Amino acid sequence: MSRILVAYATKTGCTADIAEKIGETLAATGASVDVESVKDGPDPAGYDAVVVGSGVRVGKWHGSARKWVRSNAGALEGKPVAFFTACLTMAQEPEKADEVRAYTDPVIEESGIEPIDVGLFAGWSELDKFGFVSRTILTKMEAPEGDFRDWDAIAAWTREVAPKLGAGEAA
Ligand SMILES: Cc1cc2nc3c(=O)[nH]c(=O)nc-3n(C[C@H](O)[C@H](O)[C@H](O)COP(=O)(O)O)c2cc1C
Repeated sequence: MSRILVAYATKTGCTADIAEKIGETLAATGASVDVESVKDGPDPAGYDAVVVGSGVRVGKWHGSARKWVRSNAGALEGKPVAFFTACLTMAQEPEKADEVRAYTDPVIEESGIEPIDVGLFAGWSELDKFGFVSRTILTKMEAPEGDFRDWDAIAAWTREVAPKLGAGEAA
């Protein structure tokens, strides 16, 4: 049985739920899956494959996610690693997927880890979940308010990458 770690960084909980959905979908293939925040410092050493994702602030993954990938690059090297990004561009302007994919370029450059795939997902803009500064920025950006997470798209991506993570075909 393949052991897979799903690690995530979130500011408001949006990406944590996406990580849980990815974990559930992988577990349905028979893999043994742990879903953990990077803040808890999960050690990828005991796993066969890793999925790691982050929300975005101003075109960048959260620092905690970048740091975790960098610090664990030695243990991640040689394992299949998939990235995913949760953001608003995928909700507002999905045609800009290439721009969103590039959010992970610095992570790849800093760590030397080449992901087998990068999942690009719409996140949320639930204003009551954000602090004053973030709310002001989102309002200025004229971001639409709402939860744009597409659970079917998240599950479909996970099923697609599952065999590359050694998880076998989804049930
Ligand atoms: C201050 C701020 C800046 C943001 N910048 C971007 C951005 O550059 N590109 C983008 O697509 N989404 C951007 N977002 C949207 C977030 O990535 C989105 O709300 C995501 O769902 C947050 O996930 P998290 O709370 O799990 O980190 C921004 C949100 C805030 C509050």
